Amino acid sequence: MNFDTQIDRKIYPAQKWNPTDLAQHFGHDNLLPFWIADMDLPAPPEVVSKLVARAEHGIYGYEYRPDSFYDSVIDWYKRRHGWLIKRPYIQSCPGALSALATLISQHSDEGDGIILQTPVFFEFRLVVRKNKRKIVKNPLKLVDGRYEIDFEDLEAKAADPRNKLLILCNPHNPVGRVWNREELEQIAHICQKHQVLVFSDEIHGDIVFQPNRYIPYASLSERTGDHSFTAISPAKTFNLAGMVDGMIVIPNEQCRQQYDSFADRFQINRTNVFTSIAVEAAYAEGDVWLNSLLEYLAQSLTLMKEYFNQHIPQVKLIEPDGTYLAWLDFRELSVDAKELDTLLTQKAGLALNSGYWFGREGAGFARMNIAVPRKVLLKALDQLRYAIS
Ligand SMILES: Cc1ncc(COP(=O)(O)O)c(C=O)c1O
Repeated sequence: MNFDTQIDRKIYPAQKWNPTDLAQHFGHDNLLPFWIADMDLPAPPEVVSKLVARAEHGIYGYEYRPDSFYDSVIDWYKRRHGWLIKRPYIQSCPGALSALATLISQHSDEGDGIILQTPVFFEFRLVVRKNKRKIVKNPLKLVDGRYEIDFEDLEAKAADPRNKLLILCNPHNPVGRVWNREELEQIAHICQKHQVLVFSDEIHGDIVFQPNRYIPYASLSERTGDHSFTAISPAKTFNLAGMVDGMIVIPNEQCRQQYDSFADRFQINRTNVFTSIAVEAAYAEGDVWLNSLLEYLAQSLTLMKEYFNQHIPQVKLIEPDGTYLAWLDFRELSVDAKELDTLLTQKAGLALNSGYWFGREGAGFARMNIAVPRKVLLKALDQLRYAIS
């Protein structure tokens, strides 16, 4: 598999490369972008060829999700992650965030608390705010270069009856942790005890490095499944996010009916004409491609770590268990958040997500998307090195 070829994304309106978006978020429109979580690498050739054939068919009318679509999803999760998802549990949504907004509005009232494990994907905070719920933080702890959950604090937050739902991010964006069985069981124990629902965002679940293993939260036990909603998607895995077509797994029958009637009412249960063809091809034929991608990303991480050790020892990589998002620790530079932004944008010419976007706990850090050809990654590292020196 060749991930080294640079493909020009600017010939199509890619958000990550859009000068207007870059200027709006970073104050400059000509930065090398490493921010939005999609890949500058092509989807598996099997997916591309099926999409080309589909496009050549010439008719793009309304479609439904055929049985073969669900079979491919169920087979993938069973085969790769040992999770048996029952067909009716899989509900449609335009994306994980849309499902999150719907479920928050269905299972909490305005003013109720939603627990977030910061630093965490900033859109969660925006969804909670826009739905007029309160953000309740259960900040992660950084212990010897590795993030951990503060369970004592989680229990205290869960015990407050005003806090209705925990947003779990597994693998965690941006710190890269893949929560292990023990941690997931502890979360389940606390949330079940205090009747806190769990929205588990697992859309990065396929991007996990050996020897770590992604364990779907709902697969722990029937009881765990019953108080949880799981966002799954091939979007991150196979670079299909622009299809804007996701899935939410809801084992609890009552919750599922509630979601289904809402989705029907607001017409958010439709599908994209290219989705089923792409997803079925990816899940049926994408294993080899994905395994090579994981190898490529792991090598890029090693290269990055060595580069920092050798050339910029003040910058540390928080080693991820999974995701293609590298969480970089700049605290040794002893610059404030604004100075770090200036260094990254004006001096290095790079667009990285500033750590504080993910919550105050992320200050001094930045998130860098490494799903790019290695040559581009090296160019960015060189630019960073010269900016710092
Ligand atoms: C953890 C996580 N959840 C959700 C999303 C957005 O997902 P969607 O486009 O399916 O709403 C992203 C995108 O970067 C993400 O990283």
